[in-house]
Parts: sequence; C-alpha cells; structure tokens
Amino acid sequence: MDDKDVLIHITDRDGVSHQVNAPTDMNMNLMEVIRLYELAPEGTLGVCGGMAMCASCQCYIDSDHQLPQISDDESAMLGEAFHAVSYTHLTLPTKRIV
Ligand code: FES
Repeated sequence: MDDKDVLIHITDRDGVSHQVNAPTDMNMNLMEVIRLYELAPEGTLGVCGGMAMCASCQCYIDSDHQLPQISDDESAMLGEAFHAVSYTHLTLPTKRIV
C-alpha cells in the first residue's frame, strides 16, 4: 500500500466484504475503484454513464469523513431510487470521494 492510498472497506451486492487500496493521486471516484477491483458484475454499475439517471451506482457510505454535498441531480435520482437512505450516495464520475 502506497502512502497515497486509502483503505476502503466495500461490501458488494452479494454481501461479500472486500478491503481495497484506492489511490488518491489518480483523481478516481468510487465507481472507478469498484470497477478497478471488479467488485460489480460487468454492465451493472454505471449504466447511464454517470448522468444521474439510473442509480446503478448507488452506494451506502459509512464514514466519518467529510463527503461532497449531494448535487440536485443526485438528490433527485436518489429520491426515485429503491432502498435509498440518508447515507446513500451515487458514485458519479464527477464525484471524487477517494
Ligand atoms: S451511473 Fe447512472 S446514476 Fe450513476
């Protein structure tokens, strides 16, 4: 693990836990990290290309870190998404949380 990496604990859709090292110097978002480690089946993550139109990149974030504010588009999509709760976010390409 590089000193520029952060350790992220990810529970996939099957309930399997993973610990991944995410680089902080590559401007990656969480969706890209999940794809990098192939933690979601092909074609099931980022279906709309990050346009906040499908919620396939929906995730629950349990962290004490300051996260970017939810945009109006993200908020509108989460308002229509199933299983959205107060700590639900979209891992949109424009959202850098890593
Ligand atoms: S990829 Fe469609 S809302 Fe995130």
